[in-house]
Amino acid sequence: DAAALQGLRQGRLRIAAVTTTEYFLPDLLGPFARRYPGIQIELAVENRDAVVARLRRGDDELAAMMRPPSDLPLARWPFLENPLVLIASSDHPLAQRKRLRLADLLDQPVLVREAGSGTRAVLDEVLAEQGLHWPPRMALGSNEAVKHAVRAGLGLALLSRHTLAADPATEGLAVLPVAGFPLKRQWVLVWRQDRPLSLPARTLLDDLRQRLKVRAKAVA
Ligand code: PGA
Repeated sequence: DAAALQGLRQGRLRIAAVTTTEYFLPDLLGPFARRYPGIQIELAVENRDAVVARLRRGDDELAAMMRPPSDLPLARWPFLENPLVLIASSDHPLAQRKRLRLADLLDQPVLVREAGSGTRAVLDEVLAEQGLHWPPRMALGSNEAVKHAVRAGLGLALLSRHTLAADPATEGLAVLPVAGFPLKRQWVLVWRQDRPLSLPARTLLDDLRQRLKVRAKAVA
């Protein structure tokens, strides 16, 4: 109806996204952005802890992340798988191996994301679960910085598969065949249940639900 249309002709939609989603979220927003050119989209890209702080303040309507906090009244929609892989530079001797265990990597330096990153928290958790000790050699403030340091041979790292090219060899990187990896995690869209969602936010959610359903069918 006209009122609804009016609500989509102009306005603003604030979204928070953890850094790793920057590799695919703009693509997913594309059709909505083209369809509603009057809606100004603001995509804040920050690490997990910063996105949680934004959610707590209510800065954004939607947030895309892997590890939503449990102490906020959030609606959650898991919308995509997030496989996490261990990587090395393509000329690293371990990249030639056919099979590895996590324990085989522990004498290599490991490069991690900064404290506050969800990706880093997953590595810390997995090591703690398995009772393994793998102290970070270096912490870097972005996925790209981690990738470049790994390619330069400074160490190994755990990153989302989504940060890598379709063929990681083109970036000088190799995914290591480690038992138990990729770790299967989910990307989740969340929004606060104690606040009404704007029409643009609801419309975007509907649009994503439809297109991801179609995509899932095409893959199945
Ligand atoms: P991050 O993203 O490592 O950039 O924080 C992952 C997440 O927590 O969702």
